[in-house]
Amino acid sequence: MKYYIKTFGCQMNVYDSGRIAGILKTLGYTEASALPEADLVIFNTCHIREKAAEKVFSDLGRLNIIREERAARGLDTVIGVTGCVVQAEDEQIWKRAPFVDFALGPLTYHRLPEVLAKISRKKNQFIIDTDFPAEDKFDFLPENYASGGCSFLAVQEGCNNFCTYCVVPYTRGAEYSRPVEAVLEEARRLIKSGSVELNLLGQNVNSYHGEDASGHERNLAYLIRRLAEIDGLQRIRYTTSYPADMDDELISCYRDVPQLMPFLHLPVQSGSDRILKAMNRRHTSGDYLKIIDKLKAANPNIGMSSDFIVGFPGETDTDFRATLDIVNKVQYIQAFSFKYSPRPGTPAALMPGQIPEKIKKERLEILQNLLFDYQLHFNNQCVGKTMPVLFEQKGRHKGQFIGRTPYMQNLHAELPADCLNHIINIKVTGATTNSLTGKGV
Ligand code: SAH
Ligand code: SF4
Ligand code: F3S
Repeated sequence: MKYYIKTFGCQMNVYDSGRIAGILKTLGYTEASALPEADLVIFNTCHIREKAAEKVFSDLGRLNIIREERAARGLDTVIGVTGCVVQAEDEQIWKRAPFVDFALGPLTYHRLPEVLAKISRKKNQFIIDTDFPAEDKFDFLPENYASGGCSFLAVQEGCNNFCTYCVVPYTRGAEYSRPVEAVLEEARRLIKSGSVELNLLGQNVNSYHGEDASGHERNLAYLIRRLAEIDGLQRIRYTTSYPADMDDELISCYRDVPQLMPFLHLPVQSGSDRILKAMNRRHTSGDYLKIIDKLKAANPNIGMSSDFIVGFPGETDTDFRATLDIVNKVQYIQAFSFKYSPRPGTPAALMPGQIPEKIKKERLEILQNLLFDYQLHFNNQCVGKTMPVLFEQKGRHKGQFIGRTPYMQNLHAELPADCLNHIINIKVTGATTNSLTGKGV
């Protein structure tokens, strides 16, 4: 039996897909080289913006055609949907895609073996499980191993912040932190099986408060310091952080934990305090800039990244200019920016002053042009410098490999094949907005 998993959405979903693959391997499945070869297809889905959710349903429509073609060849295809769309749409999934066999929420996918066993006994049934179970899914998953030099490691899940635009608190539930020892154990296993970089994941990762072996609550700074003691771990990152939870202990790690990469994704969303308040963000633009000052004091070479939303209900030109102002102050080296997308069930979807699409589009373009200017400026500044790069995949040309610098820039270089999953010193020779080129030194 062969499986194929298609992942939509954030890094947490990429991690979850890896864990789902792990479950399937213990059940004797192997990975299909292409979707039409698969006896079991799973879409691990995202509900963050309307476009993301709609893409799932249009791709499911295409998948149904493949399922029918396979059926004509006498082949059965089991179709499953997992992730945030399941949590948000529930039974609606079946109404819109009646050929789906099962649907599991982000906190219930460890129950996959039981679900597959039920389906093999009785066809033509729809199984859905969107519990927020009392048991911890991580306790029920098979052990996790590295598939490359860089691995994701979920340390925290869920969010209690309820930003008024966001579905995540509803799809991923309340904040939960994995115990310190469970994280360290998974980290050791990942490192032993070849990872040199770990990216600690959580929807609100810097609110981490897992219990240690003696039952004390520990924060993310503690976890990072413990991880840094593990031999062979050369790089630590974490994502995504919430500004109000950036405490001084975590900031001090940028001063004295050399494995912690000098790059931080810290979403500000807007530069306008009025809009931040309407978004229910627990920080002002001033609070945010103070955090950046402290980070720069701990490590002057730190590079910042952020998420932005334009066209939040009630956003005026003045509010939007405040967002451009904060970009000019922080000079982000990378960023993601989105048009506000009203999500069913979230407070902002019902707020007055919804912004017309045309204005959202104009603002997004202006913001992105400014962000790209800073990104290109930073990339250009890297030319001539030597940077340690972790090579993770083959490039398009023969002998070419793609890796990541400490600042998460993609770097292309021609190197011998054994560079994969290793950190190599590279002299940067060229830069564009989206990537660098370089050669071994
Ligand atoms: N705390 C999580 C949030 C994931 S969502 C994390 O930061 O990883 C990622 C980004 O999507 C958010 O930071 C926000 O900028 C954007 N986003 C969330 N809901 C949105 C919406 N309704 N419309 C547009 N963008 C949204
Ligand atoms: Fe969503 Fe806000 Fe929580 Fe991030 S912090 S997941 S944007 S509610
Ligand atoms: Fe999307 Fe869920 Fe991640 S909504 S961004 S897959 S937490």
